[in-house]
Amino acid sequence: MLRILSGVQPSGKLHLGNYFGAVKQHIALQNEGLCFYFIADYHALTTIQDAQMLRDNTRDVALDYLALGLDPDKCIFFRQSDVPEVTELAWILGTVTNVGLLERAVSYKEKIEKGIEASVGLFTYPVLMAADILIYRSNVVPVGKDQVQHIEMTQDMAGKFNRAYGEVFPIPDYRLDKESKVIGTDGQKMSKSYGNTIEIFAEGKPLRKTVMGIVTDSKQVADPKDPERCNVFALYSLFATDEERTGMAERYRAGGMGYAVAKEALLEKINAHFEPARQRRKELVEKPDYVEDVLKKGAQRARAEAQQTMTQVREAVGLKAKSVG
Ligand code: TRP
Repeated sequence: MLRILSGVQPSGKLHLGNYFGAVKQHIALQNEGLCFYFIADYHALTTIQDAQMLRDNTRDVALDYLALGLDPDKCIFFRQSDVPEVTELAWILGTVTNVGLLERAVSYKEKIEKGIEASVGLFTYPVLMAADILIYRSNVVPVGKDQVQHIEMTQDMAGKFNRAYGEVFPIPDYRLDKESKVIGTDGQKMSKSYGNTIEIFAEGKPLRKTVMGIVTDSKQVADPKDPERCNVFALYSLFATDEERTGMAERYRAGGMGYAVAKEALLEKINAHFEPARQRRKELVEKPDYVEDVLKKGAQRARAEAQQTMTQVREAVGLKAKSVG
């Protein structure tokens, strides 16, 4: 059976960019193979140095995923650090990874530019990520565009390892969702660091305020408008059927509709889409033991898989005597 794996950073509340870029396809893929989904708390240590914040964020992401429809009976959902074997594999992979490869990592360079400390952990982040993928012998990694280079690095490391030690790892592939670029309220890519996000679990007044604050041009109500250059329309399109989208585009071009009306339509779409998940999340918040239990059970299953791979890896590289028979 196809093995599908992805990690999500516990970096606070999920927003529409996370949803359309990753979460939505993670949930949809539950029926297409054996899915491993984990909360990347080891990775988060490269940017979060506050224990309580890391714990809270981890819990928030678990709640968000479960509320959005991740089914722990169908997939293996766990906390990365509950399978510490992955750090051992990261070490071993580090020995077949060229410094030059890591130096070319765009995401590393971008983080440094943003002022994040250039720690060794940040530099070797892609090696740990490769270990995440390879330790579960994954075939497919659904990710957003910004992670593609990391998957290519993983392919490189797996290939090098296999050439040196024999075919231990399947070479994984990435899978992009077609909507993986979601623009934020200011027209740039939606990202927490730009402060332009729309949170999935925002509702009521705060959500309304965010939507009404989406940047538009200064055309008057009567003016014809260009839907293709409008942030509101781009976001509306994520939720609308083709028919609704065409209808809205016509109203833009005809003039007579103000941006506030389009924003109301978007708000309605967001509310309708996420209402069931909001209810489920409220129920789950009341059951912290359930959430913890899901993650523990997931970790047990994941760990068994990881240990199996590590037995093979240790034997292949000579850290352990060859097993007989
Ligand atoms: N780096 C990924 C991100 O920021 C998270 C991640 C960690 C991941 N390990 C992974 C994604 C393994 C896919 C596979 O989104």
